[in-house]
Amino acid sequence: MTTQEHAVPSRTGVFTEAMARLASGVAVVTARQPGGAPCGLLVSSICSYSVRPPSVLVSIGRESRSYRSLLGQAEFGVHLLGSGDGPIARLFASRSDDKFAGLHWAWDGSVPRLDATPVYLRCVRRRVFEHGDHAIVIGEVADGEISHGEPLVYYRRALDWRLEPPVQSRPR
Ligand SMILES: Cc1cc2nc3c(=O)[nH]c(=O)nc-3n(C[C@H](O)[C@H](O)[C@H](O)COP(=O)(O)O)c2cc1C
Repeated sequence: MTTQEHAVPSRTGVFTEAMARLASGVAVVTARQPGGAPCGLLVSSICSYSVRPPSVLVSIGRESRSYRSLLGQAEFGVHLLGSGDGPIARLFASRSDDKFAGLHWAWDGSVPRLDATPVYLRCVRRRVFEHGDHAIVIGEVADGEISHGEPLVYYRRALDWRLEPPVQSRPR
């Protein structure tokens, strides 16, 4: 056996490998920048937080450019992405200066809203918990819209997974 086969992964290595094995949906979180332009980033750390009041939890990197905008605005948008939204996911995961150029979007009050994602939620920022290099942002759902579409699934560092219906629901 080589030395490499005996190598013990670091704590961070175990953590990132473990998280790579957690399948998740992905969302684009958007906000208005202090100067008035829209901004946004891709997140996989998103889940339901509470039912009363209806709230979501997102974990945002404190070094991201969107974080400061999220702290400066009362509201933000959450767009759960569909199976055909891979290019949008990659765009919002990038460091592009104008991620909105060439996209169909509009202001929903102070929130930049992308067209045609399967789920859109307008959220009021209620709490922020900073710890380590990220912060948990709790948003209370003020409004939203749901349309048809399968989710985009992130698993093992790839965005191209497709969900299949459970066996009993499959057309024969
Ligand atoms: C699949 C995937 C999931 C991501 N999930 C998160 C996340 O949950 N939270 C986060 O802050 N950044 C996440 N990121 C990284 C941000 O999308 C990325 O840092 C982005 O460039 C930040 O943009 P900004 O600096 O313009 O705000 C993820 C990236 C990828 C590719």
